[in-house]
Amino acid sequence: PQGTRYEAENATISQGAVESNHAGFSGTGFVNYDNVAGSFIEFSVSAATAGTATLTFRFANGTTANRPMTIAVNGATVQTRDFPGTGAWTTWQSTSVSAQLVAGSNSVRATATTAGGGPNLDYLEV
Ligand code: GCU
Ligand code: CA
Repeated sequence: PQGTRYEAENATISQGAVESNHAGFSGTGFVNYDNVAGSFIEFSVSAATAGTATLTFRFANGTTANRPMTIAVNGATVQTRDFPGTGAWTTWQSTSVSAQLVAGSNSVRATATTAGGGPNLDYLEV
């Protein structure tokens, strides 16, 4: 079934800004992570039932440097994911992570792990 889309611009942002200057985003904008390690976006994801879910992040990275981020669900690290260069800030790509969710509300946090910060993040789809 079609997933639920959680726009980054509606999520909780720590060290980042909502912007709209690079076309191709969904919703009203995207989040530009501050270029520091530790910047994060946290989504509140609702699951009808407990179980395995696919977390799909849509991002753009106009540099040639990877911008890895740690994905954590309900405070526990799932994995650190690569967010490599996409060729341009207007070129958006998706990457997916499998994770266990509980029934009800889940926090999904994507935290930049390097001094480059995260990529620009458009949304999380679950
Ligand atoms: C540019 C770009 C931003 C991006 C930033 C970065 O300033 O316009 O959208 O976030 O580079 O390198 O992180
Ligand atoms: Ca940035």
